[in-house]
Amino acid sequence: MQRTLVLVKPDGVQRGLIGQVITRLENRGLRIVAAKFMQVSRELAETHYAIHKGKPFYDGLINYITSAPVMAMVWEGPDAVAAVRQTMGSTRPREAAPGTIRHDFALDVGRNLTHASDSPENGEAEIALWFKPHELVQWQREIDRWIFE
Ligand code: RTP
Ligand code: MG
Repeated sequence: MQRTLVLVKPDGVQRGLIGQVITRLENRGLRIVAAKFMQVSRELAETHYAIHKGKPFYDGLINYITSAPVMAMVWEGPDAVAAVRQTMGSTRPREAAPGTIRHDFALDVGRNLTHASDSPENGEAEIALWFKPHELVQWQREIDRWIFE
């Protein structure tokens, strides 16, 4: 089982799309591990997006992610990192496949609604950055054996 960090970014929260994102991940069969609704500090934003420092869109990205609250979550499942990014769709919503969240709800890359970790290693690092160990809930769903082979 693999874990990944998911954020519903400020635009998703403001547009009332938290439920839609959760529903799609639940429908897919992924299992929620942790969630918290929070205002992102500048410090957390800069650590989370450190890899993008110096890029032309960096300042806009930091302003965007700190502009209003986000819903931070951890989800798990087989190949959860790739599966969740597939459900989110391409970074640029106008290039995202129909049926993905970004295709169905977004247009601009700077308002692309969600974040999802891009590798298992980054997933672990991002989960450790956003959550304390005791906030991660280990549990079994009754339906798991009908979703996980
Ligand atoms: P994310 O990290 O948010 O899941 O998105 P991603 O992996 O698909 O994209 P990434 O390359 O990590 O970029 C992080 C976020 O920066 C914004 N961005 N803007 N204006 C631009 O060219 C541009 N490129 C990236 C997006 O909000 C993207 O999700
Ligand atoms: Mg990324």
